[in-house]
Amino acid sequence: MTPVEAPVAPATLDAVAALAELACIGRDDARGGWSRHLLDEADGEMRAWFARTAAALGLAVETDANANQWATWAPDGATGPAVGTGSHLDSVPGGGPLDGPLGVVSALAAVSRLMAEGHAASRPVRIANFAEEEGARFGVPCLGSQLLAGDIDTHRVRALTDGSGASVAEVLTSAGLDPEAIGRDDARLADLALYLELHVEQGRQLAPLGVPVGVATGILAHGRWRVTVTGRGDHAGATELGSRRDPMLVAAAVIRAARNRAAGANPATRARATVGKLQVVPGGSNAIASEVRLWLDARAEHDADVHDLVARILSDAEAVAREEGCEVAVAEESFSTRVEFDATLTDLVDSALGGVPRIPTGAGHDAGILAAHLPTAMIFVRNPDGVSHSPLEGASDADIRAGVDALADALRALT
Ligand code: GLV
Ligand code: MN
Ligand code: MN
Repeated sequence: MTPVEAPVAPATLDAVAALAELACIGRDDARGGWSRHLLDEADGEMRAWFARTAAALGLAVETDANANQWATWAPDGATGPAVGTGSHLDSVPGGGPLDGPLGVVSALAAVSRLMAEGHAASRPVRIANFAEEEGARFGVPCLGSQLLAGDIDTHRVRALTDGSGASVAEVLTSAGLDPEAIGRDDARLADLALYLELHVEQGRQLAPLGVPVGVATGILAHGRWRVTVTGRGDHAGATELGSRRDPMLVAAAVIRAARNRAAGANPATRARATVGKLQVVPGGSNAIASEVRLWLDARAEHDADVHDLVARILSDAEAVAREEGCEVAVAEESFSTRVEFDATLTDLVDSALGGVPRIPTGAGHDAGILAAHLPTAMIFVRNPDGVSHSPLEGASDADIRAGVDALADALRALT
C-alpha cells in the first residue's frame, strides 16, 4: 500500500522571531539602537532580508523605480487593484527596533498566515517596504512614497545630498537604480485599492486603556526647517564679550523658543517643536563658532498652526541675532499637511478588529502621504512606555502577536 503523505502546510512567518533576526542588522554601537539609512550597508541588509524572506514565503518581489520594495501575493482568483500594506525598514539615527520593521514584518506574517489557511483572497495583497521614510539620510521624510505619489519635485530629489555630500542620484546609481526614472508611478498607484499600515504606537495612549491595538484617526501637520546662523569665528579667550558675533547664542534662542512657543500655544492646537540636530562649524572647544546649522521640527493640529508656531520661534531667534550681529537663513526641508484617515476604511478595519480605540498621532507615516491619493488607514500596536525614535522603544511579544492577528483579520476582511 502506498503511504498517504500528510499535506505540508506552507510555512508561516513568526513576527517575533523575524524581528529578532532584524535586530542583528544595523546596530549602532556609538549612538545605541539601530541606524539604517537609505541604501547604506545596513539598509541594504534589511532590503536583502525583505527580498529573501518574502521570496521564501512564495511572494513575488520587486523594487520600483523609486527604491520602494514590494512583495505581492496574488493567489488564483485574486483580481483588480491590490490591498497595500507594509511600512519601512529604515530608521532614525540610533532608533528603536520597531518603528518601521514592525509593520513590514507583521504584513509578511499576516499574509503568510492567510496563505497557510488557504484564504481565497478576492484581490492581491502587496507588501511595501517604503524607501527613506525617516528622511534620516537626505532630510526629506517619506521620500519613497512621496516620489511614488508624485508629491515632490524629482529634480530637487536627485540633487539632495547626505552628510558626506553624496547625492540621491549618485546613491541610486550605485544601487543599480536609474535616477532619471524616479517620480510619480501612475500604474503602481492605480494598482493599489487601499493601503493599511501597521505601526508601533508612538506615544502612550493604548496602555492606559488596557488594549493591545488601536486604529488611527489622523496625523498632525508637521514639517522640518533648516536654520543656518552665521556669525564670526574667533578666539574663545582673546575675544572681548562686546565684540563677539556668536551664532551659538542664536541657536540657543531657537531651542528655547521651540519649547516656549509650543508650550504657550493654544492647547487645542497640540503644538510641539523640537531641535534634535545641530552642527557647529568649526566645532572647536576653544573657538567661537562661525556658523551653526540646526533643524527645527514643528508639528500641530492644522497646517496654519504649524506655520504660526514656526514664525514665532524664528522671530524670537531674529531678535537675538540682531543683538549678536548674526544672520539667520531658513529653508523649509519638508512639510506634510494634516491627515485624516479614510473613515470608511477605518470603520471596516475597526469592525474586523471587533471595535478598538481610535487614537491620533503626532508621527508621520507613508500612509499619511498615500492618504491624499487612495483610502488609507493605520493600526497601532501598544507601546508600554510610549517611547519611540529611541532604543527604548518597545512592545511585548504578546502585543506583537496581537498586532499580527489584527492585521490578518483586517486583510482577511478586505480581501
Ligand atoms: C517619522 O517618524 C516622523 O514622524 O518624523
Ligand atoms: Mn519614525
Ligand atoms: Mn515609522
